[in-house]
Amino acid sequence: MEALHAVFGHPVAHSLSPRIHAAFGRQAGIALRYEAIDVEPAGFAAALAAFAARGGSGANVTLPRKDAAFALCTEASERARRAGAVNTLVRGEDGTWRGDNTDGSGLVRDLTQRHGLDLRERRTLLLGAGGAARGVAPALLDAGIGELTIANRTSARADALADALGDPARVHVRYLDDLAAQGEFDLVVNATSAARGGELPALPMALVGPRSVAVDLSYGDAAIPFLAWARAAGCRQSVDGLGMLVEQAAESFRIWHGVRPETDAIHAELNNRAPALVTAD
Ligand code: ATR
Repeated sequence: MEALHAVFGHPVAHSLSPRIHAAFGRQAGIALRYEAIDVEPAGFAAALAAFAARGGSGANVTLPRKDAAFALCTEASERARRAGAVNTLVRGEDGTWRGDNTDGSGLVRDLTQRHGLDLRERRTLLLGAGGAARGVAPALLDAGIGELTIANRTSARADALADALGDPARVHVRYLDDLAAQGEFDLVVNATSAARGGELPALPMALVGPRSVAVDLSYGDAAIPFLAWARAAGCRQSVDGLGMLVEQAAESFRIWHGVRPETDAIHAELNNRAPALVTAD
């Protein structure tokens, strides 16, 4: 019988996950059905229960329900607990859901393996302190980055994230308005949703230099403003979130099916749809 999986989100119609998982299934010779289910936040728990009743055994959760997904799991992996957010659900035999978060490891894998970056000791700036930022911060710290500076429009949220990370020797919070005085960063990660709804915060050019790498966790049109800023400011490399998307999907696939698919082919195929977002050197 084919396995039934889905991505839940709102909106979700343009999600690339069904296409990515279909490609992985073909590659691994595993019959699967992977749906995109659009659900308003208030209806999430009911929609997940209905999905389980139809035989759904695993799900991805995208915006804006990763914290709600975490809340309804009876068990969660350590990385999901540290992120306070779940993007991968696995239904147990007793019908309860186990949560995991593959976003952070997906980002680190994309940066280190696909883009060949050495993250160790990198002086890193994380813009944003919402669900996306929470998902990736623990994995960046685990990958051995140096100092992590968090800046967010609402500084209380940045403080809460820094507290949750529990690494005061490396993690600092700064106001967005004070960034000009912080010197150059090796790695700048945009985890805000600013470009999805409006304007990117004004960022001083002095944040980056010719050795810096800029990463946007979004892809497609949403990644354009920040990566354009990074190029104008003279960054060595700018990377969009498409590789992270493919890598987090591969990790979810491994959790559900026990095999980690190869990701280069589907990444290249999807990148050709939205060219010029990933530039190297
Ligand atoms: P996500 O799951 O995408 O992270 P989220 O949890 O709603 O979504 O978080 C959105 C992040 O983008 C937050 O850090 C938010 O800042 P606030 O905490 O101040 O709301 C940030 N953000 C959204 N719009 C922004 C804007 N126009 N300028 C600066 N930051 C913005």
